[in-house]
Amino acid sequence: MLSGLLSIFKKKTTLAQFSRENIPIHVAIIMDGNGRWAKGRGLPRIAGHKVGAESVRSAVKTCAELGIKYLTLYAFSTENWKRPKEEVSFLMGLLTEYISSEIPELRQNKVRIRFLGRIQELPIELQEKIRFAESETKNNTRLNVQVMLNYGGRAEIVDALNAINNEQSPNDTINEELIGKKLYTAGIPDPDLLIRTANEMRVSNFLLWQIAYAEFYVTKTLWPDFRREHLVNAVQEYQKRKRKFGALG
Ligand code: IPE
Ligand code: IPE
Ligand code: MG
Repeated sequence: MLSGLLSIFKKKTTLAQFSRENIPIHVAIIMDGNGRWAKGRGLPRIAGHKVGAESVRSAVKTCAELGIKYLTLYAFSTENWKRPKEEVSFLMGLLTEYISSEIPELRQNKVRIRFLGRIQELPIELQEKIRFAESETKNNTRLNVQVMLNYGGRAEIVDALNAINNEQSPNDTINEELIGKKLYTAGIPDPDLLIRTANEMRVSNFLLWQIAYAEFYVTKTLWPDFRREHLVNAVQEYQKRKRKFGALG
């Protein structure tokens, strides 16, 4: 009872202190630690993925409330196929289920959802759900959520260069602007804040091109435990950073 009251109080003070200035436009998250969360409770790894879906819901809601315009979530990497096939098919099923169940709330909160990566290699049923969710939410502008699926930063750059190679006349100059336009994230500003949970200090092939000047925030919190207050803390830490982009501060 007392701890319940204390946690409400703590949450309120955190939000009361929250400054609306210098809010990141784009937050990207490497959602890690589902397996460790489950293992710590003597549960199978998939239990961590299930609770992790709750954290996704919470992150989407919190970003919409804070006025963040873009949220990019790393859900399945091009390397995650190396996991046992039972875990991979559980994750594909969970995603298929998640997409269907979330559409009403996404629409209600005016959230646009997109799925970026080598989508054509995913199970057909999942691809159909993806197309449906994208078209149902395409006119929403409050928050743009990108779920990166079968995504690799290197694969994305390779796909962009192949697209340039196939479409452009040989005289066209390749420059940063052209590459940016051919990435899956074309039209989306680069992330301002990159969060990784579960205390891993690596990028794991995420948004290699786009994170050139993103601010990193690593937390020990495991993804299934990551809730509103953790995201607020990350944004508050971001608000204290001095970004220089190579110039003198
Ligand atoms: C992140 O949690 C989810 C995916 C990569 C799909 P992990 O499953 O990587 O959890 P850990 O790192 O083993 O704890
Ligand atoms: C990165 O997490 C991929 C996703 C969060 C989808 P991993 O757990 O796959 O990364 P590594 O293997 O620890 O680098
Ligand atoms: Mg991991």
